Amino acid sequence: MSASIRFLMCAPEFYDVDYVINPWMEGNIHKSSRDRAMEQWQNLFHIIKENATVDLVPPQRGVPDMVFTANAGLVLEDRVVLSRFYHKERQGEEPFFKAWFEEQGYQVFELPKELPFEGAGDALLDREGRWLWAGYGFRSELDSHPYLAKWLDIEVLSLRLMDERFYHLDTCFCPLANGYLLYYPPAFDAYSNRLIEMRVPANKRITVDETDAVNFACNAVNINQLIIMNKASDELKQRLSDVGFQVVETPLTEFLKAGGAAKCLTLRVTEPIIPLHHAAAAVESRVIHLEGHLLDSGLINRALDLIVEGGGSFQVLNFRLGEQRQSTSSAEIRVTAPDHAVMETLMSQLIDMGAVAQPQEVCDNPLETVTKDGVAPDDFYVTTIYPTEVRVNCEWVPVQNQRMDGAIVVSHTPEGVRAECKLLRDLKVGDRVIVGVEGIRTVRKPEVREQRGSQPEFGFMGSGVSSERRVELIVEQIAWELRKLRDQGGKVVVTAGPVVIHTGGGEHLARLIREGYVQALLGGNAIAVHDIEQAIMGTSLGVDMKRGVSVRGGHRHHLKVINTIRRCGSIRAAVEQGVLKSGVFYECIQHNVPFSLAGSIRDDGPLPDTQMDLIKAQEEYARLIRGADMILMLSSMLHSIGVGNMTPAGVKMVCVDINPAVVTKLSDRGSVESVGVVTDVGLFLSLLVQQLDRLTSPYREAQLA
Ligand code: ARG
Repeated sequence: MSASIRFLMCAPEFYDVDYVINPWMEGNIHKSSRDRAMEQWQNLFHIIKENATVDLVPPQRGVPDMVFTANAGLVLEDRVVLSRFYHKERQGEEPFFKAWFEEQGYQVFELPKELPFEGAGDALLDREGRWLWAGYGFRSELDSHPYLAKWLDIEVLSLRLMDERFYHLDTCFCPLANGYLLYYPPAFDAYSNRLIEMRVPANKRITVDETDAVNFACNAVNINQLIIMNKASDELKQRLSDVGFQVVETPLTEFLKAGGAAKCLTLRVTEPIIPLHHAAAAVESRVIHLEGHLLDSGLINRALDLIVEGGGSFQVLNFRLGEQRQSTSSAEIRVTAPDHAVMETLMSQLIDMGAVAQPQEVCDNPLETVTKDGVAPDDFYVTTIYPTEVRVNCEWVPVQNQRMDGAIVVSHTPEGVRAECKLLRDLKVGDRVIVGVEGIRTVRKPEVREQRGSQPEFGFMGSGVSSERRVELIVEQIAWELRKLRDQGGKVVVTAGPVVIHTGGGEHLARLIREGYVQALLGGNAIAVHDIEQAIMGTSLGVDMKRGVSVRGGHRHHLKVINTIRRCGSIRAAVEQGVLKSGVFYECIQHNVPFSLAGSIRDDGPLPDTQMDLIKAQEEYARLIRGADMILMLSSMLHSIGVGNMTPAGVKMVCVDINPAVVTKLSDRGSVESVGVVTDVGLFLSLLVQQLDRLTSPYREAQLA
């Protein structure tokens, strides 16, 4: 026996299931037998006593869970961090445990009030003393972990618990001698599992299945080669004995009714410090500021959910409720994440929602210098479509050329400070790039948040009469907007796929161009080929557009057309030579509407106008999009998504596609400005043109007058 190893236990004199604070207790109120509990506890006590020294803390009436001494606190050498119970039902135990530790001469650390931490139930030392595994998610707060690291001077690895049956770390996780680990992986989130796998080599990880897990096999007391537990399958016993452990089973069923077993009933109070392993917690925390219609819009809920779902935790430091319906609310929230990588991910998502990280404290965003052309510093802030501002000299500077998936470069020019979005490939050695997420804010209109999600996608084809009416309504709005933009000299950009031509929409699009509704056209090789095929040969991919039937040999038409244009030299040349006399691209040339055709791997030909250098094509697109007020995306997933990525928020986008997935993907930009219409694009265009006609008809004018 190792007399130097000591455990603290508490006899179950007053033990019972009196309340429900975990799923095991449900249905078990007053269902446990105190006699049987006493007998089971005595058996455990004797087994441990044969192998170590046992100290006892006197049981107390009214705190039935005090038998679970694992929750008294967390001990390392002569220091103890006392528990702060999450549930009021157990808070009554705190003074008794505190008194015991003080009597024994421990240096006692107490966490701030309202910061739950449940001792060795949620914090387990690596048996080699290299670090502390600390659980969070149900009982202990992630924010308690930095205190553990500081007071105990040890590296803390935070693990997030996901299954409420395993609400304490020690219910599903048990570090063993010689670096082995007994645990139930599904109790943890993916990130925590990765962390475990990084720290514990595969040959040292002993995973249990659900049957063993619900028998509390992981809630074991390990003394050197001995493992004491409620129950284990033969298979698990075998695996443990294969690596040199001896399993002793002792039934603890009465305690299972309260959600505890062997380990919970003990607290190892001699945990030696193994020198050389001092380190701090990777846990980080930041304060963010949120402002807007936080409650009405559900923004606050979304932000808090995002933090928790992303593996962090939060504390609301401050909440000022807007007094009137129209006044906004604001909140300060402390976000804590188990490490830097998780923090960065959380913060960028929160910034997308309009949160600002530590606004007051940052005078200048941290910058790093580009050392290789086209490559950003590792930690660079990835931009979004939302208007963004950054801190320079303690002031907010708006970022130019906003687009998503770029980096922000800050420079000092004679005209003053300039911050601008740059694509990775455009970065040059010496550029100063913003890294991290502090002192960055995205400027969102409060209404933007409020309306989000309230813009439905408009179904047409598949669904009932009412949605036909809805498409009509949305077409009316778009027509109205197009008319307004045209009359005010606005800019409308159209991206279109070949389906526009196949579905008979070509003539309508051509008309929109002819009548001045379109200021730029973006597409690929295919739309131009099919438009010209239709103009010259009357077919689209070999299908007669008037009769809707395939023409013999028609599949060659499009290549003939490509060849014809190649002979002319360009689409413009074909128009000038009188070869091309109608269609979408004919109108573009006639009305000086610039277009850009981006090439792809599947293009036939291509047409001389198709830009096969994709970087150049992206640049042309970006140039044509600049200053757009509205973008009409007509059945081209590829080009529409590309355009979506280049376009800052605030530009109205209308995405029309028969495939709801495409529409959803684009509406996911999360801006109200985008409207999705699920319908046949040919039909949509014909409705749109009709509607525009109606706007000008004398009948309509008479009606308006
Ligand atoms: N009924 C107790 C609770 O829910 C059981 C505690 C078990 N202790 C443990 N370390 N897992 O708090």
